[in-house]
Amino acid sequence: MQQNVKGFSKLSKEEKINWITSTYFSNQKEAKDILINYWNSDENLQKLHDEFIENTLTNFYLPYGVSPNFVINGKNYTIPMAIEESSVVAAASKAAKFWGERGGFKTTIINTEKIGQVHFLFQGNFEKLTTFFNKIKPSFFDDTQEITKNMQKRGGGILDIELKNKTNEIENYYQLHATFNTKDSMGANFINTCLEQFAKTLENQARNFEGFSEEEREIQIIMSILSNYVPNCVVRAEVSCPIEQLSEDKTIDANEFAQKFATAVRIAEIEPYRAVTHNKGIMNGIDAVVLATGNDFRAVEAGVHAYASKSGQYSSLSHVKIENGIFTFWLDVPLALGTVGGLTSLHPLVKFSMELLGKPSAEELMQIVAAAGLAQNFAALRSLTTTGIQQGHMKMHLMNILNQHQATKEEKQQVLAFFKDTIISHSLVVDYLEQIRK
Ligand code: MEV
Repeated sequence: MQQNVKGFSKLSKEEKINWITSTYFSNQKEAKDILINYWNSDENLQKLHDEFIENTLTNFYLPYGVSPNFVINGKNYTIPMAIEESSVVAAASKAAKFWGERGGFKTTIINTEKIGQVHFLFQGNFEKLTTFFNKIKPSFFDDTQEITKNMQKRGGGILDIELKNKTNEIENYYQLHATFNTKDSMGANFINTCLEQFAKTLENQARNFEGFSEEEREIQIIMSILSNYVPNCVVRAEVSCPIEQLSEDKTIDANEFAQKFATAVRIAEIEPYRAVTHNKGIMNGIDAVVLATGNDFRAVEAGVHAYASKSGQYSSLSHVKIENGIFTFWLDVPLALGTVGGLTSLHPLVKFSMELLGKPSAEELMQIVAAAGLAQNFAALRSLTTTGIQQGHMKMHLMNILNQHQATKEEKQQVLAFFKDTIISHSLVVDYLEQIRK
């Protein structure tokens, strides 16, 4: 039984490491060495990372790669990707090259509205509450002037505030449902600060509203928080070409490929078990860029999957049509992203990503991220409907297997050459490695 620790957050980093390694590890020195090995030799850089969160012991690396040759709306991009899964970057790059030679990705911002809510209980009559809300609505804007003035200068701010009656679902439950334009910032802090002020205004104004009874004056605020469901902050990415251009080499019949591909997408549209994996492939591309650009991938994930269920059934985010000999494949995805604020000006690699992408606006970044998601989905479906996924996947995974078995450089070369044109499986690789080691 491990002991509880008191005041852990107040210990120094070294003391924390000592406590952790002596409490949980049989070989304290080895455990300490692992943590220290991942410290940055530049003390200032390490301090910066230490201070991003609490109780930092070390850094957790993810590979940071790039996928070149993305043509998006006629502009060339090399897209940064932070991801651990072998084959994602390779697949994105392959799809980018393929579509780059066929007109590239076309992307459009459909809308950019963010949402936040104040959830509250009101014991009284809805009509009276509506009269009160309409009367005090300008105060929500007035009382947040200080908070919104900079955002307004940048062309953003509060778009609207609505009162919503949710008493059919929960007794006495209402919402202030507010919409925002947060321009180039993701806007979480801005929205939450506005919402907390709305809540105060609501409470205070209700207390002094003459039209209310004593009971009605006591509005109970439950919570004020932005929503990561952003169905009105959506970007579309699309690729299209004449069907006959779908075949790179003559090993695939273009018509058959187009039909099989379209059926695979339709299966994901109607079958949730497949849709989740299909969308996971899209998120391979999306999350990798979201992470590399210092954005909140948990927010994006939560919002995207809610969007994929908006019809009441979880479904594919991407769609396909074949009309007049033209194959069109597209993706609509909600993305609340920022290119200012948050980690964007703090994390050196995030700054690097932003410069690599030409310092994009949030809208441009939405388009880049959506294109990466569509590329990933195209690459996965192309493999799935032709060679099967394991061929490419295991090729990329081969290096992980070799590293796991401490293969030397020479052994790696020999194994790679052997498996160049044959089926790869973990056991076949290990068997072959053992054979050459004999
Ligand atoms: C693996 O990370 C992603 C795929 O499963 C996506 C898909 O099945 O479409 C290959």
